[in-house]
Amino acid sequence: MSKGDPNVSTEGSESMSGPDASSGLSRRSFLLHTGGAASAAALLTVPVAESVAATAPNQAATPPAQVLGPGAIAATLLVNGKPQKVMMEPRDTLATVLRDKLGLTGTKIGCDRGGCGACTVWVAGEPTLSCLMLALDVAGLPGREPQAITTVEGLGKGVAMHPLQTAFVEKDALQCGYCTSGMLMSCAALYERAKAEGKLATISDGDVRAAIAGNLCRCGAYPHIVDATLSAAKGGAK
Ligand code: FES
Ligand code: FES
Repeated sequence: MSKGDPNVSTEGSESMSGPDASSGLSRRSFLLHTGGAASAAALLTVPVAESVAATAPNQAATPPAQVLGPGAIAATLLVNGKPQKVMMEPRDTLATVLRDKLGLTGTKIGCDRGGCGACTVWVAGEPTLSCLMLALDVAGLPGREPQAITTVEGLGKGVAMHPLQTAFVEKDALQCGYCTSGMLMSCAALYERAKAEGKLATISDGDVRAAIAGNLCRCGAYPHIVDATLSAAKGGAK
């Protein structure tokens, strides 16, 4: 038996002869890998119903997901305390529905990709980028209640402005105004949260800067915005 004899059996040997020897792949690891891939392929071809039945025999089958669209469908948005029926497509963002279908143009669209904060509204009291939120995700549908949305138009009570709006005017916290509604919604959320916890007096410069970390102001009105928020907090804490 000579080395390199083609009739020599390699059974039991770790090395492969021939061109594959250069890859460093052993016969054993080759078989292990191809065996694993074959098992995975076999698993993937098991019908879903069969695999569910095999793993959870007593579990009821999940009902098929409801398909909405692609055309416009009627849904209810609860905006500033008022339920409103709106026709919307599944692809419509909350920002476009608020502006284009409900005429609430106080909400601005700057970047339309979550980078500037101009479109900030509240969803269930939390500041939310409405350009990244699909309107249908917060709308009421048969069997599902709508989530409460607050826009800058609903921040005050009737003609009475929110303390933050008053402070923005007093402290000259805006120049072109494009970022202002988003800034107001972020700052007012901080204000309302602190008020509910009885902590208005403790709002710091750093708290305000953290609250508006996602809001860009091209005019650089940041110092006045921070000043206005601290002033409103101080006034509200009295
Ligand atoms: S428009 Fe939504 S973050 Fe810029
Ligand atoms: S006031 Fe102009 S972008 Fe902020």
